[in-house]
Amino acid sequence: MSLDQSSITELILDAKKKANEEIGQVDAPPPPSEVAWPVNCEVKPGLEGAVAAGSNIGFVDGARGALVYRGYDIFDLCAHSTFEETSYLLIHGSLPTAAELEEFSQRIRAKMNILEPTTKMMESLPIKALHPMKLLEVAMIGAHAEDAKNNGDEIDQMEASYRVIAQMMTATGMIARMRKGLPVVEPDPELSHAANLLYVMTGEKPSEIATRLMDVALILHADHGMNASTFTSMVVTSTLSDMYFAMSGGLGSLKGPLHGGANEAVLYDLEEIGSPEKVDDWFKAAQQSKRKIMGMGHRVYKAYDPRARVLKPLAQKFGLAVPEVAPLVNTAERLEQVALDAMGREKKIFPNVDFYSGLLYRAMGIETLMFTPLFAVSRVSGWVARCLEYRENNRIFRPRGIYTGKVDQKYEPIENR
Ligand code: COA
Repeated sequence: MSLDQSSITELILDAKKKANEEIGQVDAPPPPSEVAWPVNCEVKPGLEGAVAAGSNIGFVDGARGALVYRGYDIFDLCAHSTFEETSYLLIHGSLPTAAELEEFSQRIRAKMNILEPTTKMMESLPIKALHPMKLLEVAMIGAHAEDAKNNGDEIDQMEASYRVIAQMMTATGMIARMRKGLPVVEPDPELSHAANLLYVMTGEKPSEIATRLMDVALILHADHGMNASTFTSMVVTSTLSDMYFAMSGGLGSLKGPLHGGANEAVLYDLEEIGSPEKVDDWFKAAQQSKRKIMGMGHRVYKAYDPRARVLKPLAQKFGLAVPEVAPLVNTAERLEQVALDAMGREKKIFPNVDFYSGLLYRAMGIETLMFTPLFAVSRVSGWVARCLEYRENNRIFRPRGIYTGKVDQKYEPIENR
């Protein structure tokens, strides 16, 4: 990898500049300072338009294509922050002082070692037959078991939050290595979260560039409004269930290809297409069969996803430098062009975060099946932040369904049916 850290920052700030030039032309109201319940909203299938909760954590500005965590622009966080600092911001509400950050990082590091319950469960499972996201769920049970061993039923939600952030990273490394039949590696307390993630996956201390790229990816994926997995984890939390169950819910939801699993699906599509020259025919056939283009479109963004603005130049810069990844990058670029021409301006369908993330991970030598777990390593911060926040004014989530079935059925004894 030929760039240095400052050129990564420059690419991000260039992306910010370009976004601001476009965003500046869009008129959109600022977010309200509080929610005035009851809220009147038009609800469409898939809860489109429904308001589930107020939150001070993050804002997805769909009209302008902007994303902020606690008031800080995602481009600035990517350019200047770290995953630890961003997680502190999401969970505790403000940027930490150096001492606060050190204490926060230490508390997470103290919980990141490989856990015996997790190891035992993983070893009993057909590792290669199960999707790594299923194995991450196992890791959440292992983390809970470790907590229960030490604290019984007295789960401290904040401590549990730190434990799941730590364990999502360690378990992702374990799974990556076990899938290859390699011995697992304990994280190194001297390394940052991003560096440790790469270390426990590869067994090698990562370069500064690889660490920085992973840090940017982790910052970008950490929170994103009332997305499906965050909402799922909040629904679990709202029943006063515990943080470990809430995380399992989040993982299950994130895995699907319409959500976090799209990063994996994009790579399969690009491999299926094969080369840039084949994009046009492939796209035409996809449109005819009403096949969705993975990594494109979004429920909230009706503008270019700012996360894709950051990831695209990074994926291009680093992907083009790796001979087996370069054709995939060129194919993605052509697919974006063709899709934007056909749907972008008219239907407001643009690349989302998942369109370019996998190409960056692939350029870093990471196996496709591990892409969605990488998303989870990051999004776990948003999940815990939002679950902790919701708990402060908890009310169980319990929407209504509309019954459209039969009424007045007469019960027939089984022997008469
Ligand atoms: N490719 C092609 N068409 C798409 C599309 C895509 N990726 N995403 C949306 N559309 C079209 C739909 O076909 C539909 O067209 P129609 O009105 O002519 O029927 C319209 O745009 C609305 O799509 P819909 O699926 O109802 O939007 P949604 O808000 O329910 O779904 C997503 C949002 C993200 C699930 C959807 O865009 C999608 O499936 N994207 C691909 C998966 C993906 O990348 N997920 C990660 C999201 S971060």
